[in-house]
This record gives sequence, C-alpha cells and structure tokens, in this order.
Amino acid sequence: MTQSSAHTPFNRLLLTGAAGGLGKVLRESLRPYARILRLSDITEMAPAAGEHEEVQIGDLADKTAVDHLVEGVDAIVHFGGVSTERSFEDILGPNICGIFHIYEAARRHGVKRVVFASSNHVIGFYRQDQTIDASAARRPDSYYGLSKSYGEDLASFYFDRYGIETVSIRIGSSFSEAQNLRMMNTWLSYDDLTQLVERGLFTPNVGHTVVYGASNNAHVWWDNRLANHLDYQPKDSSEQFRAKVQAQPMPASDDPLMVYQGGAFVAAGPFDDK
Ligand SMILES: NC(=O)c1ccc[n+]([C@@H]2O[C@H](COP(=O)([O-])OP(=O)(O)OC[C@H]3O[C@@H](n4cnc5c(N)ncnc54)[C@H](O)[C@@H]3O)[C@@H](O)[C@H]2O)c1
Repeated sequence: MTQSSAHTPFNRLLLTGAAGGLGKVLRESLRPYARILRLSDITEMAPAAGEHEEVQIGDLADKTAVDHLVEGVDAIVHFGGVSTERSFEDILGPNICGIFHIYEAARRHGVKRVVFASSNHVIGFYRQDQTIDASAARRPDSYYGLSKSYGEDLASFYFDRYGIETVSIRIGSSFSEAQNLRMMNTWLSYDDLTQLVERGLFTPNVGHTVVYGASNNAHVWWDNRLANHLDYQPKDSSEQFRAKVQAQPMPASDDPLMVYQGGAFVAAGPFDDK
C-alpha cells in the first residue's frame, strides 16, 4: 500500500458489516487509516473491541440505530447487508432501507465520504463475451443486484443534492481464492480490495465514482478507464488458481455460470412460488 503512509488517518472511521467475510479483512487492513475504527454488524463479532476500536451492534433497517452509528464519524465504509440472493422482503430492510439510512445519517451528521460495497450483480445480465465500462446501462440480475443498483442511485443523488462523495466498488468475487472459471475473471484479492477502499477514502473529488473490483486477472470483462482518477493498480492475479479450477468438472456451456457475468445469480428464485 504505497499511498497509505502519506495519509493523515481519520479520527473515526465507520465499517459496517464488520463481522462478515470482507468486514473481518477490512477490520485488520483499515487499521492504519483511523485513530478509532467503529465496527458495526447485526451480529456480535469476535474478537470484541480491541485497542483503537469500538463496536456498535445494530440493524441497518433501524433508522435510529444507524443515526447513532454514523454520529461522530469522518467517513463510512459500508459493507453491511445481505450479500447473496434472497427474497425481496429479506433484502428490503438490510440493503434498501439500510443504505438509505446510511446516507440520511451522513447528511444529518455532515459526513462527506462513503465507500460502498456495490456488486457485479448490478450488471450481471451482460454476457461473458461482452466488455463493459461504468457507463453501460445497468442490468441487475437479482433482487440483491437491484438493491445494489438502488444504492448506486442513492450515492449519485446524495452527491448531486448534498455533496456527499462516494466510491461504489462493483466487487467481483472477493474471497481468498478463485473457486471456479467465472471467478478466474471476477476474483478480487483481499489486498486489492483494501487498495480500492483506501483509494475510495482518500482520492479527492470523486463525486460518485463507480469502479469495478477485480484483480489484475488475465481476462476481465470490465474496463475501469472511467475510474482512472482513483489510480487503482491491482497487484494480484487469479492465474495462481488456474490449475486447481481447471481440475474441476466443467459446467455445461449453457450453464449461467459460463454465460452471464453474474453467473448463478441470474437463475436464482423466484422465491414465492410453491
Ligand atoms: N465477497 C464478495 O465477493 C462480494 C461481491 C460483491 C459484493 N459484495 C458486498 O460486500 C459486502 C461484504 O460482503 P461479504 O462477502 O463480507 O458478506 P457477508 O455476508 O460475509 O457480510 C455481510 C455482513 O453484513 C451483516 N448484516 C446483514 N444484515 C444486516 C443488517 N440488517 N444490519 C447490520 N448488518 C447486517 C451480516 O451479519 C454480515 O456480517 C456486502 O455488502 C456484499 O454485498 C461482496
């Protein structure tokens, strides 16, 4: 992280979703960027608050709880919410009301910078033989993708209306390893994720910037030139996992995993039909 030492850390930085897979990673890697990291989730987290940390448990669907959460912070890294496809009703509170509560609280408390964990699932219905940039019309592949698309619209609105700046990271697949052929294209290493969040926090004048979150993989479907001002330079590549991935049984060529950028999400649901 070449840029980090040049930055004066925030006094207090909020990380939502801190008990989750990526929250655990960012809890460690964002440590240099804040005098105090305020960690939040709906579930208790382990370990409990350490030095330079404070924990506030709360539900993103609860407007008053989110208002307290945001009070006194200098910036928000918003990673909390439902992270897979579920019914609309399950997504509504955590993701759709949740991000509205985050921006309303940011407005009320004068917070001017948000880094938002958006998702490739806002463009999941593009095919894998297409290359798109951030100006491509969104094609959400799920209720989950729709909630992230709404989050990006809120980010745009709160910048135009109130000057709150956001970097929305359309995260591909951020796990310790690429686990299948699709993830060979979408994989985002934890170090590259941290670099993106750091660039999202500290790059001046981002307005609302959308950036695709993939590592320096051999093939990617996403063109990040519209986010060049972030100076995101991914260091890792999914090639290290190719042999392991290719040793797996291959899905059929018409399997959504092989056809659509959003993979299996395009075929999830419906949830209400008996
Ligand atoms: N991991 C990826 O590859 C990936 C890809 C695209 C987008 N994202 C996004 O990044 C973020 C983190 O992903 P992750 O993989 O760590 O997911 P995760 O499910 O492990 O973490 C999400 C956290 O949010 C918390 N949460 C859920 N509902 C909540 C609520 N109502 N109030 C407060 N907290 C709530 C959960 O308890 C969980 O700890 C999510 O927003 C996800 O949509 C992740």
